[in-house]
Amino acid sequence: MLSKKVVSFLASGRGSNFTAIAKSISNGYIKAELGILISDRKDAKALEIANDYGMESFFIDPEIYPAREDHERQMIKLLSKYKTDLIIGAGYMRVLTPYFISRYKFRIINIHPALLPSFPGVHAQKQAFDKGVKITGCTAHFIDEGVDTGPIILQTPVPVLDDDTVDTLSARILKEEHRILPESVKLFCEGRLKIKGNKVLIKK
Ligand code: GRF
Repeated sequence: MLSKKVVSFLASGRGSNFTAIAKSISNGYIKAELGILISDRKDAKALEIANDYGMESFFIDPEIYPAREDHERQMIKLLSKYKTDLIIGAGYMRVLTPYFISRYKFRIINIHPALLPSFPGVHAQKQAFDKGVKITGCTAHFIDEGVDTGPIILQTPVPVLDDDTVDTLSARILKEEHRILPESVKLFCEGRLKIKGNKVLIKK
């Protein structure tokens, strides 16, 4: 029997992906423990939601720690104190440095609102919309040193409809994000993800 993993979160905004995971952990669908939530934005809604789940949440002000690594050092202190096994980038808008990423190699999962390697970086839904693709989607992946280049865990396609706007498309993608991100966390916590080169194999 595996011991329960502690899952902590980095978030900058409304925290809907964080909520999807917190729900799945609270209702026992994912057998894990909720750790802490850290935000780089004082007004992030995710900070409030974390409190609703009885979690400790922390705002670490980038203005106090202007050097990225100093900011991340504060994050690492907290994540270690709470014995974090897995970190979720749940709409965290700061780029993580190799210093942080190497400390948590293959233990940081991110959700991206496009089918990587297409449309990496910001405003992925708009990038796909403007390009006129017929299918886009979302990707749950491990974070590596590149921008949205890490090993892919799960992906789901989402069709782009003729009468879509960026907003309606983003909403349909978000629904799928809320499904594949918790699913990826569950697979990780069950010890079913094996990384081979740039591939993630899922054990039955
Ligand atoms: C999501 O679209 C996610 O794919 C992207 O940032 C957004 C965060 O939304 N990385 P939320 O804060 O989880 O609601």
